[in-house]
Amino acid sequence: MQDATFELMEMIKQATGISLTEEKTYLLESRLSDILSDYNLSNFSELSKKFKESSDLEFKEKVIERVTTHETRFFRDESIFGAILERIIPEILERKQQRNPKIRIWSAACSTGQEPYSIAISIHERYPQLFNNVSITATDIARDTIEKAKSGIYSAFEIGRGLSDAHLTKYFEPFSKGLYRVNDEIRSIIEFKQHNLIYDPYPSDWDLILCRNVSYYFDQIERRNLFNKIEKSLNQDSFLILGSAESISEYSKNFIIREFGLCRFYELNPSNFTLFIKGA
Ligand SMILES: C[S@@+](CC[C@H](N)C(=O)[O-])C[C@H]1O[C@@H](n2cnc3c(N)ncnc32)[C@H](O)[C@@H]1O
Repeated sequence: MQDATFELMEMIKQATGISLTEEKTYLLESRLSDILSDYNLSNFSELSKKFKESSDLEFKEKVIERVTTHETRFFRDESIFGAILERIIPEILERKQQRNPKIRIWSAACSTGQEPYSIAISIHERYPQLFNNVSITATDIARDTIEKAKSGIYSAFEIGRGLSDAHLTKYFEPFSKGLYRVNDEIRSIIEFKQHNLIYDPYPSDWDLILCRNVSYYFDQIERRNLFNKIEKSLNQDSFLILGSAESISEYSKNFIIREFGLCRFYELNPSNFTLFIKGA
């Protein structure tokens, strides 16, 4: 591997937490090839130098945008929505025991927004009376990605990945040829923000955090930091959902592992000395 590529990989790791291994060099180079031509750079050495020395924030954001993987879809891992509706929300309500409890959800590393919109749609459908008491904060490191999420505009191809016809009819409006926009009511409970899980301070007071399919891009140290910060920002007895290939168990003993159908989720409960799985 060339020194410039190695140096760039190190800088990307520092900026995003994402650990790119040597086998991913080709991926890095192919994802960044457009940027070489856009910025008139002749090779990766120049790109790496610009990333290191330049104060051009837009350039750095473009590089981060390109090297991060934004794969997502509507209702990804369907079983988590059953867990949210049938276990997590009822338990949050039981715990709060107020007439109009606010439910605060953070969809961290939400990519282009399919995850927070899927959560909002499923809550609207199952708990219409509760809908306006729910607030979802949806964040991602990549600026263009979070802007797209905020716009709520999706192509027919993106819609076809996970959204049913019934949901399309009920919750989307035709926008322009071949594009659809999430309706205002669904959008009204979601706030989108740019947020870097490595550097930015974590907001707190969450009843549920989803942080799916991002920790596996981090190395052990960054993953530990990530989970520590998530733990601190959750309310006691609140919930965490990770991607199906991710787990917090190696990093914290303060969570009870819960299951609902195929979904594994976590309940923050440091006072619970015996680790047990509550009934599904
Ligand atoms: C594979 S997508 C997962 C999207 C969604 N959570 C899901 O599971 O469908 C990973 C997302 O993590 C974001 N990401 C990567 N590093 C990040 C960081 N340090 N802080 C915040 N977001 C990050 C990427 O921009 C990307 O959109």
